[in-house]
Amino acid sequence: MIAAMDISVRKAERSKLQELNLDNLPFGKYFTDHMLEADYENGEWKNIEIKPYQPLLMNPSLAALHYGQAIFEGIKAYKDRNGNPFIFRPQDNYRRFNISAERMQMPAVPEELFMEGMKQLISLDRNWIPSREDHSLYIRPFMFSSDELIGVRPSDTYKFMIILSPTGPYYVAPMRIYVEENYVRAVPGGVGYAKAAGNYGASMLATAEAKKKGYDQVLWTDAFEHKYVQEIGTMNVFFIVGNKAMTPGLELGTILDGVTRQSAITLLKEMGYTIEEGRINIDFLIEAYKAGELKEVFGTGTAATISLIKELRYKDFVMEFNVDTWKAGPTLKSWLTDIREGRREDKYGWMVPV
Ligand SMILES: Cc1ncc(COP(=O)(O)O)c(C=O)c1O
Repeated sequence: MIAAMDISVRKAERSKLQELNLDNLPFGKYFTDHMLEADYENGEWKNIEIKPYQPLLMNPSLAALHYGQAIFEGIKAYKDRNGNPFIFRPQDNYRRFNISAERMQMPAVPEELFMEGMKQLISLDRNWIPSREDHSLYIRPFMFSSDELIGVRPSDTYKFMIILSPTGPYYVAPMRIYVEENYVRAVPGGVGYAKAAGNYGASMLATAEAKKKGYDQVLWTDAFEHKYVQEIGTMNVFFIVGNKAMTPGLELGTILDGVTRQSAITLLKEMGYTIEEGRINIDFLIEAYKAGELKEVFGTGTAATISLIKELRYKDFVMEFNVDTWKAGPTLKSWLTDIREGRREDKYGWMVPV
């Protein structure tokens, strides 16, 4: 157990907050005054400290840079209408963090360190949580191997850190998506379900090629037949077919178990949709589109919440949608935003006070 008092706090002498225009915030560019840092050595977590945000000093032989034992999470904190800070479903991210850790042969982070550390850090930098609508504080916990030694084996030492970044509205125009058939993101038995840094590095070439063709992102497909859809960039994907909301299932371990995905499933049920999780063949989607039954396609993720998809291209077949007529995606987006910002009842206990 790590009691609150075991986290030592060294405050910044001066806040950088005054220098920042909280009205115009690009995603992930500015960081708050403090960060949390902890070291794993000899089988235990130690040196747990909240201190001024600063560069890390590291040796060029740092294991994470060579062999990629590195994982992360993405969470958001909001202020309610009374200015009180809340975190959206951090327990789910905590669980997922340790699932990623296990897959990458990294030590588990104790709940007290993750949750208490996050709450104390946010509490100290609470003035950085923007109170304007659609603004939030993005929370980035991460862990990497820190042995200074060349050699492929799990590290003996690790660093766990949390940094915070105030963010503005992550407005994404309805997206054009390219169904990827050449590159693959994940295979059964692989690391697709882990939030491992290497997954993102491995995705960049396919995304860059799709962008050259005029698309915003790729929709990944399975590695064997290139038929079963997986996810889009840093988002899970939903298809509204008639009165069904369909989304790829988690059973093969090839997609991330998104917290927004789980929330979307709950809220879509509340809206009256039947949820179907499982394998979704692109040919089925094309047939549904041709029959006029594929009504909506959208992505779900912490950064953008819900992203509407106005075009889906598979080989030479283009599916186009008029997002202005949609119901499920836009309603989901406003419900989620309203729950997070305290305008809609938090029936499911998703908002955790700091
Ligand atoms: C690959 C991938 N899929 C899906 C998601 C959506 O997950 P969440 O809703 O937990 O942000 C993310 C973002 O975290 C992601 O990186």
